[in-house]
Amino acid sequence: MHGGFNDNDSTYGGSLIGCDSDTLASYITDYRYENGRRYHAYRGGEYWGPNDEYSNDLQDLAHHMYLMTLEGKLHLAPLDNPHNILDIGTGTGIWAIEMADAYPSAHVIGTDLSPIQPLFVPPNCAFEIEDLNLDWTYSKSQFDFIHIRELFGSVADWDEFFSSAFEHTKPGGYVEVIEHSVFPVSDDGTVNEESFFTLWGKTVVEMGRRFGKSFTIWEESRERLERAGFVDIVEKKYKWPVNGWPSPEYRTHGDDGEKSWQRLREIGVWNQLRLYDGVEGFMLRLLTVAGGWTYDNAQAFLARMREEIKDLKIHAYLNVTVVYGRKPGGKARAGDQLPHPATRSGYVSPEGGWRSTIPEDYQGLP
Ligand SMILES: C[S@@+](CC[C@H](N)C(=O)[O-])C[C@H]1O[C@@H](n2cnc3c(N)ncnc32)[C@H](O)[C@@H]1O
Repeated sequence: MHGGFNDNDSTYGGSLIGCDSDTLASYITDYRYENGRRYHAYRGGEYWGPNDEYSNDLQDLAHHMYLMTLEGKLHLAPLDNPHNILDIGTGTGIWAIEMADAYPSAHVIGTDLSPIQPLFVPPNCAFEIEDLNLDWTYSKSQFDFIHIRELFGSVADWDEFFSSAFEHTKPGGYVEVIEHSVFPVSDDGTVNEESFFTLWGKTVVEMGRRFGKSFTIWEESRERLERAGFVDIVEKKYKWPVNGWPSPEYRTHGDDGEKSWQRLREIGVWNQLRLYDGVEGFMLRLLTVAGGWTYDNAQAFLARMREEIKDLKIHAYLNVTVVYGRKPGGKARAGDQLPHPATRSGYVSPEGGWRSTIPEDYQGLP
């Protein structure tokens, strides 16, 4: 699983940085092929998903679903004129590129194991090949915003990962984590203990455990961000129907109460396409390598999943969470007691802006 090149490989002089760039360039595109799918080369075996065109198109489709979920927003954290933004595990880079367009005065960096991002990108956007599970190569307190989306099954130690994120966030800056569950559930009992969806969910979670990288971060982000030291944490919950089953009669309840059934159905229709076309990429390496299943058994399991996804009578959905938190310190916020640079007395008003405690009719020293 963990064979292949790593930073300690003596052939490369001990470090990727500063190596001969031709060797490095060919190394990261020297892709691996398994069961007809293409996988990343750098740090081979670290990630479960293919990086072929087929898989990349589905990542872009997921981006579209996240935009629909967040009503067109690229993030929920209240950013204020960010200068440095990091998108870890950027994939095709679609989010990073759109952020660079949305914040022209910010510099956006996207990192990944695979160089699958487009060559022509906004001038304030750059991509780097990095393994997020190795020591981060950035300066302390460098970023105003760190974005983490769909890194389920990719992080070896989430607490260590969020500590690194904390260390590299500027005081007053934000980290946002957007993840979905891999365990289909329902509000009306149409998914139960006997359902294939339940077997599916248990299987993915177990494969993540064997792979050494969990798939349950969607329900742990809040607690883990808190533990890393972030404050003012906000968690928003959403539901992604697994197909277009929502209707005036049936819809999800609770967390996604603000969305119309039409919007839920639209998300469900896209989700069905993403899952139907995507299950092989999501699971083939996990089942055959981490699980030791034969290729034929894995394909039979995937075929069953595709059948289940077509059934509109099962009102299954995937939970989605967006969690963001602020690193303490930085710019003055309402209520903060900070020394004014000139008078060393005053406060930040609840409406924002500095209020001096020097009387307005102050006439100077007698
Ligand atoms: C499911 S995709 C999500 C991509 C992107 N964040 C998005 O939401 O569109 C996960 C991405 O994480 C990357 N990844 C997985 N393990 C990684 C690691 N150890 N270091 C850097 N990137 C990693 C994969 O190559 C893949 O592109």
